[in-house]
Amino acid sequence: MRLFVVAMLLFGFPFIMSKVVDSFRNCSEFFFHGQPPMISGILKDSVSLDNNHYKIICQKYKNEYRFATFYGTTEKIPVFSAYKYTGHYKGRPHIPWMIEPELEPIDGEMRQPCVNQAFPGDYWAQKQLNRGHLFPNSHTADQNTSESTFTLTNTVPQFETFNNGSWLRMEENVRDKMHSHCRDKDNLTNTLAYVLTGSVPSKRQPLNKRVNIPLYMWTVFCCYNSSDSRWVSEAHWAENIDESKDPDKTISAKTLVELQQFLRKKNNREYKLFFNDC
Ligand SMILES: *[C@@H]1O[C@H](CO)[C@@H](O)[C@H](O)[C@H]1NC(C)=O
Ligand SMILES: *[C@@H]1O[C@H](CO)[C@@H](O)[C@H](O)[C@H]1NC(C)=O
Ligand SMILES: *[C@@H]1O[C@H](CO)[C@@H](O)[C@H](O)[C@H]1NC(C)=O
Ligand SMILES: *[C@@H]1O[C@H](CO)[C@@H](O)[C@H](O)[C@H]1NC(C)=O
Ligand SMILES: *[C@@H]1O[C@H](CO)[C@@H](O)[C@H](O)[C@H]1NC(C)=O
Repeated sequence: MRLFVVAMLLFGFPFIMSKVVDSFRNCSEFFFHGQPPMISGILKDSVSLDNNHYKIICQKYKNEYRFATFYGTTEKIPVFSAYKYTGHYKGRPHIPWMIEPELEPIDGEMRQPCVNQAFPGDYWAQKQLNRGHLFPNSHTADQNTSESTFTLTNTVPQFETFNNGSWLRMEENVRDKMHSHCRDKDNLTNTLAYVLTGSVPSKRQPLNKRVNIPLYMWTVFCCYNSSDSRWVSEAHWAENIDESKDPDKTISAKTLVELQQFLRKKNNREYKLFFNDC
């Protein structure tokens, strides 16, 4: 641990002042109907059923809640991040990666850094994996929200060729779709979609012997389609692998029900991702 303390001081990683809370009720605005997913055995009625392993983070940045994350401290990757798509800001902020001090145990007067989460150094010794955002920069509506996504608790080790390949193309297609048709039912001038993006952990050798390299990444949105006046959802998932030999790979669209079945099979848990199935 000493080494981490020294490293943290040397490199001066900035801290994000988000909140590790007991319940998603503190940031329910990021969930459809204010209701987070139900995942059997681990998440029910907005609270973690295994609080030593799975933590609830209301991602606060510059004094406002920006999104929400359900975080696995054993795997050191999120189960999912939940956010609202309300439009997109064009730009990529140049800010350093942040970590979440409230996740860490207190040892005397000091918090031990990064016992429970990934830190930038975990990524240094290899070239193939980079920090894949779950709430991507490209789905943020303004610069402050964009900056808030640069926390390690919102990322998983993702093959760079996948991150910049099929996953990126899918994120752009989904963004365009949400942008053209998803509206706030109570005020049709405003763009709005509820999005959940998550990972399926693997039994691979962890990154830097610490951070789980997920097998899959998945995403699903639920929104009111103002063109045909109904609620719609659409899901995608793909394997986290090197795509350098398959540069044109595309990720096909699936239904919410198919995604829930897929996650049940992979994780051996029941999933109900959106209130009333959207
Ligand atoms: C979360 O919400 C509860 C109940 O409204 C409140 O008492 C508590 O202070 C909130 N926690 C934070 C960190 O905002
Ligand atoms: C970003 O946050 C800062 C500090 O709270 C605030 O002054 C600024 O107006 C915010 N910018 C936007 C675009 O909301
Ligand atoms: C992938 O995208 C990142 C960020 O946009 C960029 O820094 C990196 O060079 C890209 N890598 C490849 C292999 O295209
Ligand atoms: C709808 O939202 C727009 C932009 O946020 C706002 O200017 C307008 O007053 C809202 N309309 C109603 C009926 O609330
Ligand atoms: C919304 O409805 C329009 C018209 O039926 C359709 O073309 C579009 O693909 C739908 N968008 C979504 C996100 O479901």
